[in-house]
Amino acid sequence: MEISEILSKLTLEEKARLCTGADAWHTACPQSISVPQVTVSDGPHGLRRETGVPGESASATCFPSGSALGASWDPNLLEELGEALGEECRAQGVDVLLGPAVNIKRSPLCGRNFEYYAEDPCLAGTLAAAYIRGVQKQGVGTSLKHFAANNKETGRLTTDTAVDARTLRELYLPAFETAVKEAQPWTVMAAYNRLNGTYCAENKRLLTDLLRGEWGFQGLVMSDWGAVSDRDRGIAAGLDLEMPGGCAIGPQKIIRAVQNGTLSEEALDRCVTRVLELAQKAAAHKKPAPAKTPEALYAQHHALARKIAEHCMVLLKNDGTLPLRKTGSLAVIGEFAKTPRCQGGGSSHIHPTALDVPLEEIRKAAPQLTVSYSEGYTLTDDRPDEVRIAAAVQTAAAADAAVIFAGLPDAYESEGFDRSHMRIPESHNALIQAVAHAQKNTVVVLSNGSPVEMPWTEQVSAILESYLCGQATGSAQAAILFGSANPCGKLAETFPRKLQDNPSYLNFPITSPDFVAYRESVFVGYRYYDTKQVPVCFPFGHGLSYTTFSYLSIETDRAELTDRETLTVRVTLKNTGSRAGRETVQLYVHDMESSIPRPEKELRAFRSVELQPGEEATVSFPLSKRAFAYYDAAAQDWTVEDGVFQILAGGSSAETPLCASVTVHPAEPRPHIFTRHTLTAEAWDKPATRAVLKEFLTKAGCDNLHVQADWMRDMPLRNLFMFGAVYTQEELDQLVETLNRTTTFC
Ligand code: BGC
Repeated sequence: MEISEILSKLTLEEKARLCTGADAWHTACPQSISVPQVTVSDGPHGLRRETGVPGESASATCFPSGSALGASWDPNLLEELGEALGEECRAQGVDVLLGPAVNIKRSPLCGRNFEYYAEDPCLAGTLAAAYIRGVQKQGVGTSLKHFAANNKETGRLTTDTAVDARTLRELYLPAFETAVKEAQPWTVMAAYNRLNGTYCAENKRLLTDLLRGEWGFQGLVMSDWGAVSDRDRGIAAGLDLEMPGGCAIGPQKIIRAVQNGTLSEEALDRCVTRVLELAQKAAAHKKPAPAKTPEALYAQHHALARKIAEHCMVLLKNDGTLPLRKTGSLAVIGEFAKTPRCQGGGSSHIHPTALDVPLEEIRKAAPQLTVSYSEGYTLTDDRPDEVRIAAAVQTAAAADAAVIFAGLPDAYESEGFDRSHMRIPESHNALIQAVAHAQKNTVVVLSNGSPVEMPWTEQVSAILESYLCGQATGSAQAAILFGSANPCGKLAETFPRKLQDNPSYLNFPITSPDFVAYRESVFVGYRYYDTKQVPVCFPFGHGLSYTTFSYLSIETDRAELTDRETLTVRVTLKNTGSRAGRETVQLYVHDMESSIPRPEKELRAFRSVELQPGEEATVSFPLSKRAFAYYDAAAQDWTVEDGVFQILAGGSSAETPLCASVTVHPAEPRPHIFTRHTLTAEAWDKPATRAVLKEFLTKAGCDNLHVQADWMRDMPLRNLFMFGAVYTQEELDQLVETLNRTTTFC
């Protein structure tokens, strides 16, 4: 049946009920009309389909979580992951998977960082688009979340997030924008928080003007679970579906508002239409469960989870101790070697189909190796345990090398709360320091969802950041430790030396109760550390390999262009080592001269390439206007300033050996508007307007311009009388008018 026909048959009550879920995981279906129900489930790095028994979900593959996936820098991998997730949704009758989550990592303390990809929107948006493409290829929808500026857990349902327009546009919105424009998720999830005074779930500017009007979003907007404050306002703003269902207040408010005329029925009809469209789309795209047996499906996906995990782990440091030899002896230390932490807590927590235990996988991977084990700490007490540490030291000293499994226990990070510091438990720190003292070949393998402080970096031989890498964590760690997999992950976030170095430090989690101001503006992550030249522990983009890469050349297809044209940049690199490996070429843009403060450089493109020993590859990147632009809040548009830009290429934000320069001209220069408040410098710096100003000042009796010019620059035109000029209000108005006529463009 046509949607318009269904709509005409629905009562006001039925319409209101359709815009609220039937329960926690289903949309409603009115009795009078046959509308298929839509089943939604979390997301994002695995399927969490609740069974109905409280706290229980059906088993599914637990893939690496968001922060690990971010470190892959590989959209192809994310698309493959998406397809597998889509298959599992098909197997379990789920129509919409609640992911991906693309919020920017503003502070390492956000409890949910493990679900998010990056501190950079170019990386987060590209990966999210690939994930969405993969899932939706399977006829299953996605929900891009949490829209927007939801970057902490403290007070997440009520906090008002104050972000200026430029920062929003440059940092917190583009990952959503890319995902919407490139992949059209079936749904978008409105976040819990308020944004500049208005709840995201009632924010018309966000949900309608921007999302649909500017970006062309075609799907449905649902609320995060419990994010609705005033349902009728939400309808007017474009929030189509309230989730979860079960509360009568929402529909009642809608009905009352329509009846008393404060909400138009057309607005309600628009939301109902989108709920019906989603139901029809889900039914039309629904594919049968995969033909494979569940055992075959999950075995295949376990192998994929391992492949992805191997791509995501980041080798932070290596003095040559890794890869480990498969003969001799090895001490494996730390409770995490037996009880690995492979995912975070909260709505994304998966009931895994299997779990690879690192200690067992190490033994399996190297049967000739004598492996000893010592727990070193327990997961129940964070205080250093001298007896366990002494035993671990003894075990380590007796072996050829030691691998310590450490990181953040479950209680340290989860959805629902933020961390208050960046430290791992003291029991882990003390253990690492003691073992490293006794054994010169000490490797630390970390499991955590977000950066931690590492006071022992200098004392250990190697550090492998394995993040929360899913159910195949153990086998992937073993493969990298022994070198059957070559590490290729790159940090999608900066690891600061200490928490206080982070730019949001003074305004995280809140600025005052129920309010947070993003005072660091666009200077988030490497955008801040690079610009302010703050030394970091490990920079954004960093990650080592067992082979080496050399960046040979960078070329641009032109030296000069307008911002309507696209620049093509070609970067050539070579695998100069003796084994195959994967490198991520990162391309940053640096504006050489800007009238406003801009980050030292910004990531604009990247590509992950696999190279055999001695092999060379040339990768090309198209760069268009947005790569050079900043968001001009006054003009409410993207602006490119005329001038020279450097294009920097390399394997990390801190190592960009290649550089090319191009000059970019705005195709349409911005009109320059003079008012009484315009600074004198703006008229003085252009020959045509300077002539007008000079004539005015001379007529007004101000004849010592050469002496006063510097001081005068910073004065608004209305204050010229302070330099001895005598004029009337009419004459000043006349000056402003003449300046505006003289120059229409700057
Ligand atoms: C989370 C969402 C999740 C939803 C349903 C909320 O608390 O913020 O990410 O999809 O619950 O579980």
